[in-house]
Amino acid sequence: MGKVILTGDRPTGRLHLGHYVGSLKRRVELQNSGEYEKIFIMIADAQALTDNADNPEKIRQNIIEVALDYLSAGLDPEKVTIFIQSQVPELCELAFYYMNLVTVQRLQRNPTVKQEIQLRGFSDSEEDESQNKKGTPVGFFTYPISQASDITAFRATTVPVGVDQAPMIEQTREIVHKFNTVYGETLVTPEMKLPDNAACLRLPGTDGKAKMSKSLGNCIYLSDSAEDVRKKIMSMYTDPNHIRVEDPGQIEGNTVFTYLDAFCQPDSFEKHWPEYPNLDALKEHYQRGGLGDVKVKKFLNAILQEALEPIRQRRKEFEKDIPGVYEILRKGSLCAREVAAATLADVRRAMKIDYFDDAELIAEHTRKFAEGKE
Ligand code: TRP
Repeated sequence: MGKVILTGDRPTGRLHLGHYVGSLKRRVELQNSGEYEKIFIMIADAQALTDNADNPEKIRQNIIEVALDYLSAGLDPEKVTIFIQSQVPELCELAFYYMNLVTVQRLQRNPTVKQEIQLRGFSDSEEDESQNKKGTPVGFFTYPISQASDITAFRATTVPVGVDQAPMIEQTREIVHKFNTVYGETLVTPEMKLPDNAACLRLPGTDGKAKMSKSLGNCIYLSDSAEDVRKKIMSMYTDPNHIRVEDPGQIEGNTVFTYLDAFCQPDSFEKHWPEYPNLDALKEHYQRGGLGDVKVKKFLNAILQEALEPIRQRRKEFEKDIPGVYEILRKGSLCAREVAAATLADVRRAMKIDYFDDAELIAEHTRKFAEGKE
């Protein structure tokens, strides 16, 4: 059996550079590597609704944004199946059965869910709730189980995601193990695939905060104009103690350099700044002193514009044919549904809840009820 990828994103906003280096760019490479038999990319609208129940319009508007970001980043619907989670109802049924294999206590220990509950200000105790804090929606609390359905429905061997998703993959593996132990070998155990470049693991925001996030307003979006990108780079957080050009500068925690780590290509210096042979030489000069932030930012701008321009161009083309983009999603969802339905049939058979397809069950019961009457 060949290798299969499943991964996806919640459609809560346009995709930014953090998504790009953390996953999108990698997906395009994997798509073109020819190493994978099937690649499924899911727009996780149902998961997004678990903490946006009162804002379905936001999700509805962002599905097309995310689809455009995917296509313009270079995902090719001829090579990958792009689909919308809610259009594959088989996923819900799988999740319903998996729920019996996971304890409340195990879910409470999931570090990502824990952190997200905190971040959203949901209460995690009955006392909190009576003090008017919003309770945690059950759907949100259980989304790791739904994510296990997403992954297993497509028999994914490989899930390329960022580090924050590690606990989800771990929990999926546990569910698979439990299912296969209880009901017999049925589900495929997935492996997680992290980005190999440390700077790409978690790209900081332009303000130097740990993560790019829409709510912090520190994102560079794939769909930002060239001018917006330039402005954001020019106001980026660097080393607050690097005041005069002559001062020695610090690289650690300096966002401009983190971005260079993430985006520098082997030929970037030759193309845009031939005075330096490579990034190490540039860093060395910056640390020694005598190199101003503006110059480094201009270099970063050149590199980023080079990466983003083809993406912007492709987006323009796809924006001219929105019905065509919806058609890609519709076809992808149909195809995804077929695969998920086949897995669901296996699951039902393994759990012995395929009553009407089970001739042996009917024969057995025929015998059972005939016995007493002889
Ligand atoms: N949780 C992921 C995110 O927040 C989205 C997602 C849903 C996902 N189901 C998945 C990712 C399955 C990988 C595999 O971005």
